Amino acid sequence: MSFKVAVVGATGNVGHEMLDILAERAFPVSEVVALASTRSIGTEVSFGDKTLKVKALDHYDFSDTDICLMSAGGAVSKEWSPKIGAQGCVVIDNSSTWRMHPDVPLVVPEVNAAAAAGFRKMNIIANPNCSTAQLVVALKPLHEHFGIKRVVVSTYQSVSGAGKEGMDELFNQTRAVFSAGEVAAKKFSKRISFNVIPHIDVFMEDGFTKEEWKMMAETKKILDPKIKLTATCVRVPVFIGHSESVNIECEKPVTADEAREILRAAPGILVIDKHEPGGYITPHEAAGEDATYISRIREDNTVENGLAFWCVSDNLRKGAALNAVQIAEVLINRKLIQPRKKAA
Ligand SMILES: NC(=O)c1ccc[n+]([C@@H]2O[C@H](COP(=O)([O-])OP(=O)(O)OC[C@H]3O[C@@H](n4cnc5c(N)ncnc54)[C@H](OP(=O)(O)O)[C@@H]3O)[C@@H](O)[C@H]2O)c1
Repeated sequence: MSFKVAVVGATGNVGHEMLDILAERAFPVSEVVALASTRSIGTEVSFGDKTLKVKALDHYDFSDTDICLMSAGGAVSKEWSPKIGAQGCVVIDNSSTWRMHPDVPLVVPEVNAAAAAGFRKMNIIANPNCSTAQLVVALKPLHEHFGIKRVVVSTYQSVSGAGKEGMDELFNQTRAVFSAGEVAAKKFSKRISFNVIPHIDVFMEDGFTKEEWKMMAETKKILDPKIKLTATCVRVPVFIGHSESVNIECEKPVTADEAREILRAAPGILVIDKHEPGGYITPHEAAGEDATYISRIREDNTVENGLAFWCVSDNLRKGAALNAVQIAEVLINRKLIQPRKKAA
């Protein structure tokens, strides 16, 4: 059984990763179609050892496509996802547009795979924000064992989370600093090279940013509405890989050793936690990898039943493309979809 898959945003950071991951995991495809804006018509992208010519989303007919992996931003998704879904093709969307919609499941397969079954009302499934995806993978096993009441998280988010333009800005500014050129800030509100910026997405009325709000709201939808979460989201001059400093308060007593064992056994997680220089994971090592890495696990004695840890993952993979492909695998493995076009 094989499926016709369209990747929308195939020329972007996440789209490239989607194509790589479909090929790496030998996803059962009958055909893969690469789509982007009209600007990219005819551009070539790689899919395994094949080269695909990019077609325009505007001119594409989805009536015999089974799965659409969408990563072309919120405005494109808002306009196109319902239309594609109405043609019977399941959209797995990476933007924030549909995440909190009551008829759209928000899924991280290691945490709430069963929720994917609720996709039929709109034929859309949402992928969470990159920072939320890796966080809930880490929180889920701890919540099952110790009952998490409250989470305090500070993020250190790479520039690839802001797309190709974010990566270009870090590169160009860094080069300009060394060549005494002009360090112009366009994508980010302040200079990102040799700096950190405590601001991602727009400001909300209460002083939090939308990125911080997304972490709070999405964790509740995916994991447990009772969990209280507060976040500070910070952009750092790293190309790929988001890091998070996490403190949790639990209902039950928790030791660092117990937490380490539970996290070691949990799906999607690798624990690297030696109490010595270099005995932890940094974004540089997590880039290009699928795991969510946990390091620096320790008891936090400033609160009752407290635990602190460090969590790192590739934002383009677990934070976006890998999670989307895993959702598509859930649909197939649980027989929630069938190919529309029978193989000849
Ligand atoms: N980067 C992350 O860590 C991350 C994590 C989670 C979710 N996401 C989400 O994933 C999406 C894409 O992110 P990205 O980092 O891959 O951005 P990106 O590198 O800037 O790529 C954007 C892609 O969207 C395409 N696109 C733009 N306008 C289009 C249109 N009108 N019709 C069709 N395609 C259009 C672009 O095609 P052209 O090349 O033709 O312009 C390009 O392929 C965003 O919604 C983002 O919020 C990103």
